Formats: sequence, C-alpha cells, structure tokens
Amino acid sequence: MARETWATRVGFILAAVGSAVGLGNIWRFPFITGQEGGSAFLLVYLAFIALIGFPALLVEFVVGRRTELNPVGALQELGSGAWRYVGYLFVATGFIILSYYSVVAGWFLRYTVIGVTDGYAAGAADPEAAEALFGSVATGLDSLLFHALFMVLVVAIIAAGIRSGIEVAVKVMVPAIIVLLIGLAAYGFTLDASAEAYAYYLSPDFGVIAENWTSILPAAAGQAFFTLSLGMGVMITYASYLGEDRNLAEDAGIIVGLDTAIAVIVGFVVFPFLFAAGLTPGDGGAGEIFVSLTAAFAEIPAGRVIGTVFFAMVGIAALSSAISILEVLASYLMDEFGVDRVPAAAGLGVAVFVLGVPVTVDLVFLDLLDLFADSILLVLGALLLALFVGWVASDAAREELEIGIGDLGGLGEAWIWVVRIPVVVVVAVSLYLGVV
Ligand code: PFF
Ligand code: NA
Repeated sequence: MARETWATRVGFILAAVGSAVGLGNIWRFPFITGQEGGSAFLLVYLAFIALIGFPALLVEFVVGRRTELNPVGALQELGSGAWRYVGYLFVATGFIILSYYSVVAGWFLRYTVIGVTDGYAAGAADPEAAEALFGSVATGLDSLLFHALFMVLVVAIIAAGIRSGIEVAVKVMVPAIIVLLIGLAAYGFTLDASAEAYAYYLSPDFGVIAENWTSILPAAAGQAFFTLSLGMGVMITYASYLGEDRNLAEDAGIIVGLDTAIAVIVGFVVFPFLFAAGLTPGDGGAGEIFVSLTAAFAEIPAGRVIGTVFFAMVGIAALSSAISILEVLASYLMDEFGVDRVPAAAGLGVAVFVLGVPVTVDLVFLDLLDLFADSILLVLGALLLALFVGWVASDAAREELEIGIGDLGGLGEAWIWVVRIPVVVVVAVSLYLGVV
C-alpha cells in the first residue's frame, strides 16, 4: 500500500501548527514566564525561537520529506545504523511526553465540564477551596477517567488516518483555537486591570537576565523546543507525509510565526484575568494556572462562560498536539513492523494510558517527567539531530531544502552553518546547564 500523504498544503501546515500550539503555549508558557522573572524570560525565549527554533524546525522537515519515513527509519536511511538510536530516543521521548500531556489535558476537559455543570464559584470563597478543587480534579479517579477519555479521542483521530483523521481534525480545531483566543484577549482588554497586567508582561528587566542567565537559558531552550514540537521527531513524521515538493522554509516560517504569536497572545489573556482577580502571576507549579484562574473566573464578569470557553479552547489545543505525538509512535510501528494503523493506534493508546497512571496518583511524577523530558530529552534529541544533519548528512539536507525553493544562492549553505555551530553550541550549553 502506498504511504499516505496530506491532501493539501494547508492541511500539512495546519497539522504542524496544531502540533505546535498546545499546553506548551497556554499552560507551560505563563508559569515558566512567571518562574523565570516575567518579561525578561519572554525576550530570551523569543530570541531562541528565531535563532535556534526556526533552523531546527527546518532540520526536522528536510529529514522527513527526504526519507518519507518515521524517525527511526529516517535516521537509519540517511545515516549509518547507529544513528537509528537517535530515532529510538525520539520514540521513547514521545511515550513519556504523551503520557503526562494526556493527564494534564484531561484536567482541562474536567474544568470545562465543571464550568458547564457548576461554574467556578467554588474557587471564589478562598484559595484553599480552589486548591481543594484542583486536588480533586488532578488526582484520583476523576483524573484517571479524563486521562482515559482524552486518550480515546487521540486514538480515534490517529486511527482514522492522515487525511480523514488528522487533516480533518486540524482544519476544524486550529481555526477554532485562534478565534476563541482572540475573543478571550479582546475580553481581557475590557477588564480594568488590563493596563497593569500588560505593563507587567511587557517591561523586561535586563538585570534579571544578567543575574539569572544560567537558569533562564536552559528554561528558554527547553520551552522553545517543547513549544515547537521539536526534539522528538514530530516534524520529521509530519513532513514524511508530504508527497510533492513545497517550500519548506516558507512553511516553517508560518508555523513558527503562528506558534509564537499565539504564545504571546496567551499572555494577553491570562495576565489580565489574574490581575483582575487581584492575583500576581507567580511562582507557580503545574497547578497554578488552574487554581488562580478558577479564582479569577469566579470574580470577573461573565466568568463562568469565559472560563468554560477558555478551558475548552485549551483542551482543543492539547488534542491537536497530542495526536502528533501518537502519530510518531504509530508511524514507527507501521513503517518498521508493518502493523496496520488501527491496531497500532489502539495498542499505543493503551500503553500511553498505562504509563500516565502514576501521574494521576501523585503529581510528583508530573514534575519529574516534565523536567526530565523538557530539559533533557528534547534538548538532547534536538542536539543529536543538529549534529547529524549539520555534520553527517549536510549535502542531502541542503539539496532537500532547495527542492521547491530553487537555488538559494548562499542561503542553503548559511543554514547548514547555523545548524553546525550556533545551534549545536547553544543547545549543548543549554543541555549542560539544564543537567548540572
Ligand atoms: N508543542 C506542544 C505544545 O506546545 O503544547 C507540545 C509538544 C507536542 C511537544 C509534540 C513535543 C512534541 F513532540
Ligand atoms: Na507550542
């Protein structure tokens, strides 16, 4: 059977945008920004996206389109046998990230349901009530059930295939995310506290960068890779379904631009909500956004509707990302072992569900897995892939980049050199700082 392909270029771009835009932009970005000193972090992060994220996205794209294979097969074909272990690293990382990603996504579904059935008043009375609500959502049977529900949705989309599953789903989900988010930001603008919130968000303190760069740098690197779905083969896999030739650089620019714009807009949504409820963005943790936002939704006008829409929007964004991770794992089973799509998706869904169960029991596992995946696995994966493409497969990579764009003059060569040295060095330093 011929390998599946995207039906349209827009389908491919929306799928990649859907993968990029997710919990990383909405759940992780505000609390990392809070933890790392507000807008100072934002600035380093933006520099990282442009200088490291964009070339690294192109690296994954050329590997995928060139080989038309899953990450393990792709690296084996382009490199010698040993490079395939980088592919295995990607597959392992996918399992780990999806297992906790699904649990957290389940919380957003649960909070959407709470908005419909009860509203968020329970979080208004006092911070302890909001904490207690979060505790009951995040652990125990509820958490397990919504983790299961979320994985069922992910499996159903992947089982339906590239065109009728992923492509149809993202054509609905990605526009919905954008419309809802812009609506929420416009609402945030109407709140009295918005001016104060924007000021907090948009006034970087350069002193903070100079003082804390050893923690800001790895955090920004990890967040840049996480948010662009880099370092575990998602973009290799998605590009492997590109049949004809296109301009990969243009596609990458659109994807990076949209993901970054959405992350920045999320700040314009979340910070006004928090300031309106008299809260300061903070010192965080994974539960912070739930606890403080439910308190905010209990306060602000029409908070119940706004909150329900917000949580639903995040749930949709999480779904369009989670499917890309399961597709990496499924493509590996399909390409390398000839497993059919439906059993591959279902079997992997069960395995990921089981792996996520400990997170529903104790949130300690969430922090551990998130930290390990983000500051080590993704960064290591991106580093190894940059070394491979920059130094081992650079001729094939440059040639592949030029297909659909034409002769780039010196630009193709310049890209290779950016990958060879700046990307490798900065990522290696970030990895080192993240480990020590
Ligand atoms: N990019 C997604 C987000 O920002 O939520 C998360 C993600 C998806 C990370 C796929 C890694 C990945 F391979
Ligand atoms: Na993202």
